[in-house]
Amino acid sequence: MPTAVVTGAARGIGLATAQTLYSAGWRVALTDVDPLVEERAAALGQGAQGWEADVASAPDWERVVAEAREALGPVGGLVLNALATDITPLHEMTPESWQRQLEVNLTGAFHGVRACLPDLRRAEGPGAARPGGVVIVSSVHAHFGLPDVPGYAASKAGQAGLARQLAAQYGPQVRVNCVTPGPIRTAQWDRVDEERRRRSAAQTALDRLGEPEEVAQVIAFLLSERASYMTGATVAVDGGWSITKDST
Ligand SMILES: NC(=O)c1ccc[n+]([C@@H]2O[C@H](COP(=O)([O-])OP(=O)(O)OC[C@H]3O[C@@H](n4cnc5c(N)ncnc54)[C@H](O)[C@@H]3O)[C@@H](O)[C@H]2O)c1
Repeated sequence: MPTAVVTGAARGIGLATAQTLYSAGWRVALTDVDPLVEERAAALGQGAQGWEADVASAPDWERVVAEAREALGPVGGLVLNALATDITPLHEMTPESWQRQLEVNLTGAFHGVRACLPDLRRAEGPGAARPGGVVIVSSVHAHFGLPDVPGYAASKAGQAGLARQLAAQYGPQVRVNCVTPGPIRTAQWDRVDEERRRRSAAQTALDRLGEPEEVAQVIAFLLSERASYMTGATVAVDGGWSITKDST
């Protein structure tokens, strides 16, 4: 199996994705701004390695991809998962915060695809049913307006558009898909009070928050040869959050 690069892999959906891909036989390059990522990779075992790196930095991408190629082999899969968010209405948000969210969520994807593209294009022959490609982890915020997250929502919508554009551009060599998670129980929810968590759970058809592993399974499927006819798709992993409304 080729190497999959997973960003934001020190915890949450990124870590669960790295673990799931590793179990499926991928070699995995875990990256994160948090140095904890190196321990997380070591805990997986041989064939996994961690790099402290910022997705918003082009030099970091060049370094990580070169070292991952050397240590683990050519990159055949890329999961763009790291995030920056600031829960602040636009009229109170600083331009620096807005800029950082776009740099991490959107420009980070630009740098990542640029750095991995030569390997990704070589990894899959035209029309081949082989594992590989790109998955961008967007959000239901790409499609729905919720208060207080202008930078996050704009960049998540941008990610979904970028995934479709890249799929059209680089097919048939490279498949590019996008997932839009709903409320998933990760560190992002630590700062949310119990009442709001309960309300978010109740807004799903499945009446609960999702687990990081439930998103990871879908990402791993999209990177597998079983998804060989999927590209440019936006797949909701949201417990039905986006298809139900409370009519009471
Ligand atoms: N948890 C949810 O409810 C939810 C819902 C919808 C979408 N998502 C999306 O899922 C993805 C993962 O979210 P999560 O909930 O697992 O988050 P998380 O906070 O658990 O993990 C995010 C990781 O990204 C890392 N990171 C932050 N900035 C980085 C940077 N510049 N470079 C590299 N790494 C960086 C953090 O250190 C952290 O380890 C995000 O793209 C997020 O938008 C999450």
